Amino acid sequence: MTQPNNSLTVTDNRTGTTYEVPIEDGTVRATAFRQMKVDESDFGLMTYDPAFMNTASCRSAITYLDGDNGVLEYRGYPIETLAEHSTYLEVAYLLVHGDLPNSAQLDEWTHQITIHTFVHENIKAFMQGFRYDAHPMGMLLASVGALSTFYPDATQIEDPHSRHIQTIRLIAKMPTLAAFAFRHCLGQPYNYPDNDLQYPGNFLGMLYKMTELKYEPDPRIERALDILFILHADHEQNCSTTAVRSVGSSQVDPYSAVAAGVGALYGPLHGGANEAVLRMLQRIGSREEVPAFIAGVKAGNERLMGFGHRVYKNYDPRARIIKSACDDVFEVTGTSPLLNIATELEKIALEDEYFVSRKLYPNVDFYSGLIYEALGMPMEMFPVMFAIPRTSGWIAQWLEMVSDPEQKISRPRQIYTGERGRSYVPLDQR
Ligand code: SDX
Repeated sequence: MTQPNNSLTVTDNRTGTTYEVPIEDGTVRATAFRQMKVDESDFGLMTYDPAFMNTASCRSAITYLDGDNGVLEYRGYPIETLAEHSTYLEVAYLLVHGDLPNSAQLDEWTHQITIHTFVHENIKAFMQGFRYDAHPMGMLLASVGALSTFYPDATQIEDPHSRHIQTIRLIAKMPTLAAFAFRHCLGQPYNYPDNDLQYPGNFLGMLYKMTELKYEPDPRIERALDILFILHADHEQNCSTTAVRSVGSSQVDPYSAVAAGVGALYGPLHGGANEAVLRMLQRIGSREEVPAFIAGVKAGNERLMGFGHRVYKNYDPRARIIKSACDDVFEVTGTSPLLNIATELEKIALEDEYFVSRKLYPNVDFYSGLIYEALGMPMEMFPVMFAIPRTSGWIAQWLEMVSDPEQKISRPRQIYTGERGRSYVPLDQR
């Protein structure tokens, strides 16, 4: 919305020309600078923003972040309230549909997801083709992309029914694919979904069921997992969501777009950080070694994984909630010796000028790995645990992008730094 005086007056000192650039919603449109030329042959000014440090890529009504004050809201509801009162499936509905469901809507949503948890047997055969030691995130990346070959109707992205059924399928099948990957790592038979169980309990059953006829999840573990899923569901325009939106902007099917998100989340600076945190804590080895490690970080030889954030310049509200969920899980599983190292790291870092001056606080990944480790998961599964709930955020953002009249295929420009007009030299003369 443009108010009076809500504009920039820009003078191009190369030509002395002055321009009025409207300010809308705290931004100026980058295309407004194309008119600023030195002559008619000039392409015009572009904005340059590697890694999008200060660029809004879209309008979105899904997730609100206030990094300075550590605020996170899904569709306007504070994350603390949702973690305390909601369930992951209810939050997934909220992210996708924009409002909390009434009981009839939630029952139908839950029913639809429950009856779509199975995957085609060929997907199982596809996953069994991986090496015994394949990283489960690589397996998930590949199998989500493979789903696009089983649902060719997914290319009908203009069809609201097709968008709806792919949304259901992705949210429903992600835990099944994740659990298949986990069982593959262990060389154990894959478990099929049990539709009598709730979403987190069904996932636990597919992970851990052995010879018992009926897997019965521990309700404390099931609730802790549901809270973790709520906390990881969406986070506005993070790296993996940007990948989903950018790939999805080519009008490819949502499975291929979400597979791109899985690929981005795999990276150690993003969803792979929870695995990197555990490896870091194991490498530190004891509380006594923490000061030496911190010194290594300050010397630039180490990175304190699980700390820092592009948006949060305050404590990540999700880290605070996960830290308390640790206690609930450890009540069942017994505490982790790495917890003491983590709390000592946090204590020192929150007091040390190096971290304080850079506004580095624990993020969502700092404590989550301790819970997954306590649940007996191999570290390679940790980013997979992030991908399961983030699927609802990715698909909500994809749905918003495909319906946004302002969105076109993503195609940034560049600053060309290479050579021009070179003559080809025949091989025998080089
Ligand atoms: C997630 O975007 C999202 O919303 C992501 C996420 C989501 O829900 O989708 O929240 C999930 O990915 C959380 C982040 C998980 N990653 C990590 O924990 C990895 C460790 N953290 C970082 O590498 C880093 O903090 C990032 C990647 C998270 C943010 O990087 P930025 O914004 O590009 O910041 P930067 O690398 O430019 O750092 C600024 C300064 C630098 O120091 P100087 O060069 O100014 O001297 O802070 C330093 C960095 O060296 N710094 C760190 C640090 N993070 C930043 N120093 C030591 N340890 C760290 N963890």
